[in-house]
Amino acid sequence: MRPSGLFRFLAFIFALVTSLIFIRSYVSFRMKTIRLPRWLAGPGSAKKIEVVKIKCDLSKPCPDNFFAFKILSGAANVVGPSICFEDHMIMSPVKDNIGRGLNIALVNGSTGQVVRQDSFDMYSGDPKLLVKFLKAIPEGVLVLVASYDDPGTKMTDELRKLFSDLGSSYARQLGFRDSWVFLGARDMSNKSPFEQYLKNMGNKNKYEGWPELLELEGCVPRKVF
Ligand SMILES: *[C@@H]1O[C@H](CO)[C@@H](O)[C@H](O)[C@H]1NC(C)=O
Repeated sequence: MRPSGLFRFLAFIFALVTSLIFIRSYVSFRMKTIRLPRWLAGPGSAKKIEVVKIKCDLSKPCPDNFFAFKILSGAANVVGPSICFEDHMIMSPVKDNIGRGLNIALVNGSTGQVVRQDSFDMYSGDPKLLVKFLKAIPEGVLVLVASYDDPGTKMTDELRKLFSDLGSSYARQLGFRDSWVFLGARDMSNKSPFEQYLKNMGNKNKYEGWPELLELEGCVPRKVF
């Protein structure tokens, strides 16, 4: 090998080594910029966290294999109730599918799909319609109930028994203009943990002729076969 050829070879090795060192330090510099603390990383990074929306706007998300739900009773006879299940607003004033009395949504307990929904006027309606509706509820179906204005005037012993069989503790005492929100099921072995009730009590009421509206939220385990 001639001296100039050896020199070129050494120059080539030198260039290779220095560029490898340069690439290494460049890459580790890039790694360092990635590891910068969040407050240095710019205004865009913090926003990503807020994008995560919790189903039905619950205060915290449900675990896997649980359904998220939120039920609001009506406020006096002014603002209608709403029933949300797995982020699907089944009944609400905006949807215009609610009514005075009891609003009831039926949901398949394993798929979460809406089976039926209806409202029953408990002030001047025919309670036999509600009896028929409740008796037709199949097993494996979740029953979500929200009161509006007056759920009690047309209550019968038969209806109280039917709701108690779905796991309700308060259906026995439900009366004129009480507030009531409830989630139950036919095959529930015990009383439902998902229920709230406020009695209409004259001067203790939040609104003049009605108690405060109730809000019930939670996570129901998905029924697996
Ligand atoms: C719920 O959905 C499953 C799966 O589609 C179905 O097999 C079952 O019959 C449904 N249950 C009711 C009560 O509709």
